[in-house]
Amino acid sequence: MSEQSGRESVLDFLAVPVVRLEEASGRVLFTNAAARALPFSLVPPTAVSDGEGAPLPPEQHPVTRAARGERLEGELFRWATPEGDHTFVVHSRVDRSRSPGVVTLTFQEVSPWRRAEEDLRRALGARDTFLSVASHELKSPITVLQLVLERLQRGARRETNLSGSQVAERLEPALRQVRRLGVLVQNLLDVSRARNNHFVLERERFELGTLVREVCERFTEQSRQAGSTLVVEDCPPVQVHWDRMRVEQALSNLVTNAIKYGAGGPISVCAGLQGGTVSLRVEDRGIGVADGDRERIFNPFERAASGHRVESLGLGLYIVREIARAHGGTVRVSGREGGGSSFTLCLPVEVTEVASE
Ligand SMILES: Nc1ncnc2c1ncn2[C@@H]1O[C@H](COP(=O)(O)OP(=O)(O)OP(=O)(O)O)[C@@H](O)[C@H]1O
Ligand SMILES: [Mg+2]
Repeated sequence: MSEQSGRESVLDFLAVPVVRLEEASGRVLFTNAAARALPFSLVPPTAVSDGEGAPLPPEQHPVTRAARGERLEGELFRWATPEGDHTFVVHSRVDRSRSPGVVTLTFQEVSPWRRAEEDLRRALGARDTFLSVASHELKSPITVLQLVLERLQRGARRETNLSGSQVAERLEPALRQVRRLGVLVQNLLDVSRARNNHFVLERERFELGTLVREVCERFTEQSRQAGSTLVVEDCPPVQVHWDRMRVEQALSNLVTNAIKYGAGGPISVCAGLQGGTVSLRVEDRGIGVADGDRERIFNPFERAASGHRVESLGLGLYIVREIARAHGGTVRVSGREGGGSSFTLCLPVEVTEVASE
């Protein structure tokens, strides 16, 4: 075996694609197995972009530059394929012990790291937005609370004979704000619990219909104020073995969303039982969820662009998903014919131990 072919058979073992060219002419002398296994060609005329995806003219192709004798030191280039982009860090060296010289290029794929970096950046961005929204959300009930209490104090000083019912009436907005603060803080606590896998279930046996009707009754007034009617449809008589408080919380989050994003249209809640799994469905006729948002709205701090309100942290559906997971179940959203959205929470009647990830 010649020294040359011996070296090339070693290069065939490398997981990193390698291409060897004749200097100046750019004639390809050798491509190793990793380069040949790629579903596209690394060498011209295959078009290439820079690391940010801006198309490069043919003379800026890394292989052309290396053939001209330029030394590439870890520059990023991107090859587009119908299946997705591939980003490589390219290095080149010229061996001039022979004439013409031999250029060796290595292409180290970094696409998975780039994607991970983008995801991380996105998650950090979402967290920053969350922090500013969360502080705003926590601040506004406190401001209202302070105003209400100050007014009550002034009133008590001026009108010494305030009746009990007058005090109770003036305290109502303060209580509303305290409840809102309570929900916010509870959601924040739940998110940190879910993230640390500390979502422990306290299971009990109870009748499904009672829970569904109780939750919906609790929201009747709120949905009426939003112009919606909230109707409980079918509910099979079934004993379930779940964490009652958690499932109430999950259903409440779905109903709250239906009220918030339901555009004042009718909201229906129904339950079904099939093969040991209960499906709880909450449907509204509001703004709906775009196809592209149907996965990400279940991630923490994520809010779909449309229908965004300040009064929303993007935590509700994440908590629903974690509650579903802890019960060995799932939650998903689909479109409703005629507009709106349909959220389905599927939970096995009997929860077996669910291993935490
Ligand atoms: N029924 C729905 N119809 C249309 N869009 C919805 C519906 N439910 C949720 N969404 C979208 O999904 C996003 C995430 O919902 P999620 O319940 O997690 O957060 P939120 O309602 O924005 O805030 P939070 O529940 O923390 O107060 C919402 O911001 C909204 O854009
Ligand atoms: Mg919500």
